[in-house]
Amino acid sequence: MSVEPLEIYLEEQDLGRGLREDVRTGLTAAPKWLPPKWFYDARGSELFEEITRLPEYYPTRAERSVLTERAGEIAELTGAKTLIELGSGSSEKTRLLLDAFTHHGGLGTFVPLDVSVSALRQSTEQIAADYPGLRVRGIVGDFTRHLDRLPAGGRRLVIFLGGTIGNLLPAERAGFLAAMRAALEPGDWLLLGTDLVKDPAVIVPAYDDAAGVTAEFNRNVLRVVNRELGADFDPEAFTHVALWDPEREWVEMRLRAERPQRVRVLDLEVAFAAGEELRTEVSAKFRPERIAAELATAGFTAEEFWTDADGLFGVTLARAD
Ligand code: SAH
Ligand code: TRP
Repeated sequence: MSVEPLEIYLEEQDLGRGLREDVRTGLTAAPKWLPPKWFYDARGSELFEEITRLPEYYPTRAERSVLTERAGEIAELTGAKTLIELGSGSSEKTRLLLDAFTHHGGLGTFVPLDVSVSALRQSTEQIAADYPGLRVRGIVGDFTRHLDRLPAGGRRLVIFLGGTIGNLLPAERAGFLAAMRAALEPGDWLLLGTDLVKDPAVIVPAYDDAAGVTAEFNRNVLRVVNRELGADFDPEAFTHVALWDPEREWVEMRLRAERPQRVRVLDLEVAFAAGEELRTEVSAKFRPERIAAELATAGFTAEEFWTDADGLFGVTLARAD
C-alpha cells in the first residue's frame, strides 16, 4: 500500500484567517450568513456521515445506486490514470469506482481533496490499505481556491459527488466550473453528482430529519466559531430551519435565534433579534437541461447523464472540450 503524507494547501493559520474574514463579513451583513465549509471539523464530518445514513436523506443512497450500476462504464469510458475527488469526505461511494478501476486496470493514483483533515486522514489510510498498488495522495485544500494545484498529466477524472456543487451559490458555481475547466486539459473528465428538482415533500425532510441529526450538524458551525474564535454563541438558543425556495429551487438552511441575544466574536458584538435567522447553507436542486447548459458554458460537454431508478439524483459524465 502507498499512502503519502497529506499535502497541506490550507494551513491552520489560513483556516483561521478565512474563518475570521467570513465571520466578520457574514455576521455584519443583513441578513446574516456564514459559508458552509465551516461545518466540517471532525465532529461536523462525523455528523455528516450520520446524515448519509438517515432514512430521510435519500441523496447518498440514490447516488450510490447510480454508481453501483455505472462504475464499470465510467472506468471503461474514461480510462483514467488519475482519479481526483473534490470534497471527498469519507470517499465511501468512491470505492465503487475504485473497485471498477481495479478490475479495468490502469488507475495509478487517487487524490482526495477536502477541508476536513480528520476525514482525509481516515479515508486515505483506509483506502491505501484496501487498494494495494494504488498511490493515495490526500490534499487538505479548498475546492473554491486550490484547483490550479491539482496534479497534472495522465488522463484525469475529477469527481465531485454528494450534490456538494449545490452548496455553492450560482455565481460561485459558475466560477467553480470555469476554474475546474481551466485546471483540466481537453479530453479530461468530470463526474458530477447533482440532486434533482422534485416534490419538496421529499426534499425538505432530507434536511430536517426526525432524529435531529441535521439540526445538530447545522448548529455545529456555531461550535466551530466558538472554539476557533473564542466566540460565545449559545448553540442551544438557535433552532434549525430548512426551507424550500421554489423560485431558486434550493433548500435554505438557517439557524433561528429563539430569543434576543448578543454574541461576542472577534471585536464584534453581534445582536440577534428574537426570531432573526442566520443563513448557513443552500442546497440547490437541478434540472438535467440546466446541468448540461452550465457545463457547456464552462467548456465541458455532458456525454452521459444517469439517474437512479426513482429519478431522484443525477450523475453527469462530462468531458473537457
Ligand atoms: N463526497 C462525500 C462528502 C460530501 S459532504 C459524499 O458524497 O458523501 C461535503 C464534503 O466537502 C465534506 O467532506 C466537506 O468537508 C467538504 N468541503 C466543503 N466545503 C469545501 C471546500 N470549500 N473545499 C474542500 N472541501 C470542502
Ligand atoms: N452536500 C450535502 C447536500 O446538500 C450537504 C448537506 C446535507 C447539508 N445535509 C445538510 C448541509 C444539512 C447543511 C445542512 O445535500
